[in-house]
Amino acid sequence: MASHLTRSALRATSQLPRLSATQSSFASRQASPVFRRYLATPAEQPRLRIGTEAPNFKAKTTQGDIDFHQWLGGSWAIFFSHPADFTPVCTTELGAFAKMRDQFEKRDVKMIGLSANDLSSHGKWIEDINELSDTTLQFPIIADADRSVAYLYDMVSEEDMKKIDTAFTIRSVFIIDPSKKVRLTMMYPASVGRNSSEVLRVIDSLQTGDKKGVTTPIDWQVGDDVIVPPSVSTEDAKKKFGQVREMKPYLRYTQI
Ligand code: BEZ
Repeated sequence: MASHLTRSALRATSQLPRLSATQSSFASRQASPVFRRYLATPAEQPRLRIGTEAPNFKAKTTQGDIDFHQWLGGSWAIFFSHPADFTPVCTTELGAFAKMRDQFEKRDVKMIGLSANDLSSHGKWIEDINELSDTTLQFPIIADADRSVAYLYDMVSEEDMKKIDTAFTIRSVFIIDPSKKVRLTMMYPASVGRNSSEVLRVIDSLQTGDKKGVTTPIDWQVGDDVIVPPSVSTEDAKKKFGQVREMKPYLRYTQI
């Protein structure tokens, strides 16, 4: 469960001594996410980068309590957040993701949402989403009323955690691979709805790149030519893929 961090605890956080990099890294590995927050200074809030492990947490969701890493298992996942239930842009987004369930399943991608409200509110909101988008939302939504998961995923700042009643969780998307590494992060302003096709396109690109050892150009879609990465010689690329179209020594296309 994402435990509640009280305001006094937050005040205490700012009074804790700063730890050295070695101490804090050791402490972070030893501590649960909630305890880790007691140890945190502003500089220590996780800064999620492409290639880092997606932090683990326990939370209540609309489909029961989860341990995030256990829930991920060995699948790809998209984890996306919403500032609040019953907000217009978020409502359209969740409906769209729910309708794309088959497409994500085909790619072995689990979906999980997060919104900064409690479970009873999520339940009523899902009824609205289903009605408005003519769908049945099947994936879990994390109840993150205390913003503890949002904090862990850098969707709110330490400063915002001191005023959680008014702080907005940033509209974020994380694509996580089967080894639990963050492969993409996207952050959107509250006023801009995401593009669900783009999320799917990135998953196609990542999965293709991992399988075939290629990269993909601007606006790439499945079936388009791909790029031979600089680490592969043209000779090796020809052996592996057949024809290679060399536009410049550093820009070579092929088909897969
Ligand atoms: C929305 O999803 O529409 C929204 C979210 C946060 C603030 C305002 C609007």
